[in-house]
Amino acid sequence: MAFGDFHRGRRLRRTAFLRDMVRETELRPDDLIQGYFVVDTPDADFEKPLGSMPGQSQLSVEKLVARAGAAMDMGLRSVIVFGLPEKKDPAGSGAYADDGIVQRAVMRLKETYPQLAVVTDVCLCEYTSHGHCGLLDGHGEVNNDATLELLAKTAVSHARAGADIIAPSDMMDGRVAAIRAALDDAGFSHIPIMSYAVKYASAFYGPFREAAESAPAFGDRRGYQMDPANVREGLREAAADLEEGADILMVKPAMPYLDVVRLLRDSFDTPIAAYQVSGEYAMLQAAIANGWLDEKRAILESLTGIKRAGADMIITYFAEKVLPWL
Ligand code: PBG
Repeated sequence: MAFGDFHRGRRLRRTAFLRDMVRETELRPDDLIQGYFVVDTPDADFEKPLGSMPGQSQLSVEKLVARAGAAMDMGLRSVIVFGLPEKKDPAGSGAYADDGIVQRAVMRLKETYPQLAVVTDVCLCEYTSHGHCGLLDGHGEVNNDATLELLAKTAVSHARAGADIIAPSDMMDGRVAAIRAALDDAGFSHIPIMSYAVKYASAFYGPFREAAESAPAFGDRRGYQMDPANVREGLREAAADLEEGADILMVKPAMPYLDVVRLLRDSFDTPIAAYQVSGEYAMLQAAIANGWLDEKRAILESLTGIKRAGADMIITYFAEKVLPWL
């Protein structure tokens, strides 16, 4: 090989124009779903900043509506809302109350912004006094089949409130089928299910449990969420959820599981979602606050990486922040 007779990759990187022309992955506002925490409180002005999630707060319904509206002015199209009920009980009844906090927040959001796509998280952990994602069986274990009916009730109550997409995150077996059947029976056959199909028992949910006040009172979630070491099992979970009627498959968390995102993208034709969770947000924000990472570049690179791995949509607490940059 003569000198100079080699691949000159730099040719297409030399100017901004050339780099823009050959860029393979592009983040769009439509890809991003912003997560919010809404609190059941009589104080319409309630807003409590979250120590471990700088920039995010627990919000009253009215504050949530205002904040989502400001983000929509920047191009936000979609949100996912997590509720903090006034009271918790062993059966998590706040999750499926017609006047529950998420139901009321969704109603207010949809009446104010009919064009906003509202996703709801279906799970009991924020509503149970013990903090587990379902009903306990008396031996400290979550009773799978008894929980399904409550999840289905929760999903229907969200759809009735106006939710556009139902996203079950509980990791009970058979919940997609139970929710699909209940939605169809209630006249919501047009409402899609975004299943948290491959959800790991992750340390990166730490800040969320502060934000949503949903840490389990005893034990952990390893009896129902997946082992971080496994990937074939994730494929099996995804296939099962598809058979049960999931329309969109989600991988969660995102950054430590980009291989799983790619595998699902290559294995299925359905849209794939990835969830950049609270711990990923906290980690980036902490390094940014210390001046160790450049805010704009680090956040955009993290989201671009998730999209490049194969995610069609990304749930992230950074959506509001990045919209003006896109
Ligand atoms: C509810 C739920 C959790 C998250 C989303 N939905 C917590 C958990 O499973 O422990 C975590 C999201 C985040 O960390 O941002 N089950």
